[in-house]
Amino acid sequence: ARIFVPRDTAAIAVGADEVAKAIDLEARQRGLDIHIVRNGSRGMLWLEPLVEVETPQGRVAYGPVEPADVPTLFDADWLQGGHHPLGHGPTDDIPWLRKQERLTFARVGITDPLSIDDYIAHGGFAGLEKALAMTPAGVVDAVTESGLRGRGGAAFPTGIKWKTVLSASADQKYIVCNADEGDSGTFSDRMLMEGDPYALIEGMIIAGIAVQATYGYIYVRSEYPCAITVLEDAIARARETGWLGQDVNGSGRAFDLEVRVGAGAYICGEETSLLESLEGRRGLVRAKPPLPALKGLFGQPTVVNNVISLASVPIVLARGAAWYRDYGMGRSRGTLPFQLAGNLKQGGLVEKAFGLTLRELLYDFGGGSASGRPLRAVQVGGPLGAYLPESQWDVPLDYEAYVGISAMIGHGGLVAFDDTVDMAKMAEYAMAFCAVESCGKCTPCRIGAVRGTEVIEKIRNNDQREAQVVLLRDLCDTMLSGSLCALGGMTPYPVLSALEHFPEDFGLPAATTA
Ligand code: NAI
Ligand code: SF4
Repeated sequence: ARIFVPRDTAAIAVGADEVAKAIDLEARQRGLDIHIVRNGSRGMLWLEPLVEVETPQGRVAYGPVEPADVPTLFDADWLQGGHHPLGHGPTDDIPWLRKQERLTFARVGITDPLSIDDYIAHGGFAGLEKALAMTPAGVVDAVTESGLRGRGGAAFPTGIKWKTVLSASADQKYIVCNADEGDSGTFSDRMLMEGDPYALIEGMIIAGIAVQATYGYIYVRSEYPCAITVLEDAIARARETGWLGQDVNGSGRAFDLEVRVGAGAYICGEETSLLESLEGRRGLVRAKPPLPALKGLFGQPTVVNNVISLASVPIVLARGAAWYRDYGMGRSRGTLPFQLAGNLKQGGLVEKAFGLTLRELLYDFGGGSASGRPLRAVQVGGPLGAYLPESQWDVPLDYEAYVGISAMIGHGGLVAFDDTVDMAKMAEYAMAFCAVESCGKCTPCRIGAVRGTEVIEKIRNNDQREAQVVLLRDLCDTMLSGSLCALGGMTPYPVLSALEHFPEDFGLPAATTA
């Protein structure tokens, strides 16, 4: 029998390795023939380590499993899907999973992440096979028509970016994958890399074919050691089997790639400072223009895309642009892997078509607050995203609808807070974060963030409060319009949203509308 124990960092952090060892030991002692597969996570993080057993009736889930539970699970005849207090029945029937639309994450948690055979058996490389039969411009057109937009946060149309790189003439072009997932409460890049690395590799090869680039880099943050190991192993196997190299699957086209590891700076997730870092320099932001698409890595035309953008490309090619476009609303097409974090009963990853609401994510999936207290504020889109009060939780998750309420979906991470949160403190933290992570290249951010921290501290201490609020708004204006990149330019979002929706926390009269 096959038993699945995730190798995902989130599962390992709560003891998955020990559980795998305990299962192996117990099975030997009982003389049972089992095979343990270290899969990716299904994304139900509150159930990790979630162990699945392959039974004649399909996969059955048990979790969260501790090593001490293992003998009792065997006693309960779990190899036949037997009843146990930790049992959840057939995995696919768990409502959290059943309600999702898993396109990009279709294989994550299901396959053995490092098995190419398993990857192919579950539809892997079908997109690449199609792309290899198309012209580069045809591939770019398909991606454009699918409506896929940058999943790192900025939502720029992926096809248009690729078209710019395809149109540029150069001897060498590059594909750079931004895997420096630095946003608070986000983990979809990591889960994808650990759970289905070939999807990213396939997406990068397709991007290479589309823009005529022959080499790629995956820039992974050093905080992701498990993802780095999985990727390096996967790349080596892809090379051995001819999917990477001088002659990609016998097509006569060349594409190879390597992993580069960051050194812990949030700003290295900004594409130009990522390129600086890749070139071996300190991660200082470059002025745009020139766009990386025209003058990127080593001065050459470069596609810089997030992990999820690239990993979504194979299914777009395999199933067709129209099929992918069919998901979503407005100009937000396809699906987004949302990441639920903070004070929620059920944290984890939910892939759904755009258009659902925050309320659905918080309650239908998240199960409400973990503390049992009322939820009060949700930060969407990482440390540079706005704090949303309950009155905004029914706005559809659509890029444009969010811009309409001065918020952003970003990379799809949300962090929930209950009514014990002090929003003035959170605003001060936003400025402090910017001050620490600023690359220092431009004044509004380098000096503004430090002044911002001081001004909010004064507001909190009621030191000339009204005058300081005027100053804070003025400072936010300067940062918004004068910063060179999104770090300084978007830090005002959490600050101003906190001030606007939760003025009472700043000692100001409460907002008339919540
Ligand atoms: P941006 O709007 O300046 O650019 C978006 C992308 O489109 C870039 O790759 C840019 O080079 C490209 N682009 C723009 N015009 C183009 C053209 N005509 N042809 C080809 N390419 C073109 O946004 P930026 O500064 O790259 O990203 C900011 C976003 O990053 C924020 O909205 C935030 O959501 C997100 N972010 C994500 C983090 C994460 O951990 N995933 C961390 C911090 C921020
Ligand atoms: Fe650097 Fe901040 Fe300016 Fe961005 S906004 S370039 S991080 S100083």
